[in-house]
Amino acid sequence: AQGFASDIELAKKSTLNKIMERKELRIGLDPGYQPFEMTNKKGEVVGFDVDIAKELAKSMGVKLTIVNTDYDGIIPALLTDKFDIILSGMTITQSRNLQINFADPYIVVGQAIILNKNLKGKVNSYKDLNDPKYTVASRIGTTGEMATKRMIPKAKYKSFDKEADGAMDVVNGQADAFIYDLPFGVVFMAQHGNGKAILLDKPFTYEPLGMGVRKGDPDFLNYLNNFLRQIKADGRYDRIYDKWIKS
Ligand code: ARG
Repeated sequence: AQGFASDIELAKKSTLNKIMERKELRIGLDPGYQPFEMTNKKGEVVGFDVDIAKELAKSMGVKLTIVNTDYDGIIPALLTDKFDIILSGMTITQSRNLQINFADPYIVVGQAIILNKNLKGKVNSYKDLNDPKYTVASRIGTTGEMATKRMIPKAKYKSFDKEADGAMDVVNGQADAFIYDLPFGVVFMAQHGNGKAILLDKPFTYEPLGMGVRKGDPDFLNYLNNFLRQIKADGRYDRIYDKWIKS
């Protein structure tokens, strides 16, 4: 009887239980990473992650609240309970996984290169950029920045607070390359890059993206993983994928 009672106590502590009592799911994201989360002309936050979040809230029968959070502080914000889940195109890295738990990956991406058009033919991979004569940009706190520092250590590194500003720096001829997740590059090229930059679209890192939650909450992880399996198999995931990512 003792064990059973404490199991119930534990279940009550689950974020899942708190969401159901609150009748509200709070998602933390940084709307700078198109097509996963971005602000449209009407000022609404939209994208792949937002549609996944809407399905998730619907599956629980609760309302969805988006909590805009700067990417650089998004893990501390989760840990201090500003929201329930990070759903923000976050790569499951081992260093982040030491701080938080991740549900199963919902997509796999990798780093790609938005290249200054003058370097066409001269730079064909990240290895060619590894030279002090090149300036390589990315966004602070992201795997783009980590990959640049780790794999392109000889280049000059230029850090940006917003991914769009870093990519525009290449279009404007300031930086030689912007390193970031491939799906961002695909949308950026379609919007601003045509004829003004080149996308080297062979990903050079392996990056599964996953929802981040606080540690010690197996009930919540179990819900999220079963939810993901369900939407992947019943067509909901494919509809969202086709809407935002399939080109
Ligand atoms: N996948 C990359 C990372 O985990 C970039 C994610 C940026 N997300 C955002 N919402 N701005 O670092």
